[in-house]
Amino acid sequence: MSDQRETLTANTQKGPIGRFLALPADSTPKTIFVAVVLCLVASMVVSLAAVSLRPLQQQNALRNQQINILQVAGLYEPGQDVAKAFAVFEPGVLELETGRLTDKFDPATFDNRAAAKDPELSVALTDDPASIVRQARFVSVYILRDANGAVDKVILPIHGYGLWSTLYGYVAIEADGSTIYGLQFYQHAETPGLGGEVDNPRWRAQWSGKSIYNDAGDVAITISRMAPPRGQEHHIDAISGATLTGRGVENLVRFWMGDRGYAPFLANVRAGEI
Ligand SMILES: Cc1cc2nc3c(=O)[nH]c(=O)nc-3n(C[C@H](O)[C@H](O)[C@H](O)COP(=O)(O)O)c2cc1C
Repeated sequence: MSDQRETLTANTQKGPIGRFLALPADSTPKTIFVAVVLCLVASMVVSLAAVSLRPLQQQNALRNQQINILQVAGLYEPGQDVAKAFAVFEPGVLELETGRLTDKFDPATFDNRAAAKDPELSVALTDDPASIVRQARFVSVYILRDANGAVDKVILPIHGYGLWSTLYGYVAIEADGSTIYGLQFYQHAETPGLGGEVDNPRWRAQWSGKSIYNDAGDVAITISRMAPPRGQEHHIDAISGATLTGRGVENLVRFWMGDRGYAPFLANVRAGEI
């Protein structure tokens, strides 16, 4: 009894830290203390890693975007210096309504997705065939010029909903403002082997040489299972087992090539005014 009283008196004299240290290693307060310290240390390490890796992530995202633009323009070669190769493009910010490039924004920092969310820079769509909800009034585009300074190709971002996800990609269009040079998506979550076949090089190759507009100037490109008897130059074969993704791709391409998309700009390209 007196031993217990002595220990109690000694612990009381030690103060709260001394009393805590004197507790057995497997006591509840010590277990909680170790768990809390571990959580704090782990969260600090994760935060530090996230902050210090952010510039690298941004650099990688930019490089990835540049590779995609080079690929759709047929200029990508594995192992090349991407930033150097990308310098052939003239980046610009396009005002969709007028179809003219604007110097209101810096193309190097203009963010298409942020612009589409900004009420000042975008419009809410009521008639929305590409299911994008809001459309930015300004879009960053990339122009490739020939040795004489005339437009050779324009690379335009496109996006819209497929079956499960929004597909983001680029379309490269030739100087006539109608012939597709290439189309590719760089982000989507369609099912691999079904809707994901939009990434299949064989399917993508069909787009090359197809004509967006008919003689009347209307968007004529279609994706369907059956090739129409006429208008082969506007036809893309559907992916079997992916009718809904294909319909989404058709809707988004037709939307972006239409009057609310790039049609005014492509008319200016055709007229040699860009
Ligand atoms: C697990 C699963 C994933 C699917 N993913 C897709 C897809 O990514 N894109 C698509 O169009 N259809 C997808 N489908 C099929 C559609 O549900 C639908 O059956 C199909 O578009 C119609 O097939 P069809 O193209 O042969 O007419 C998927 C079906 C299942 C069961």
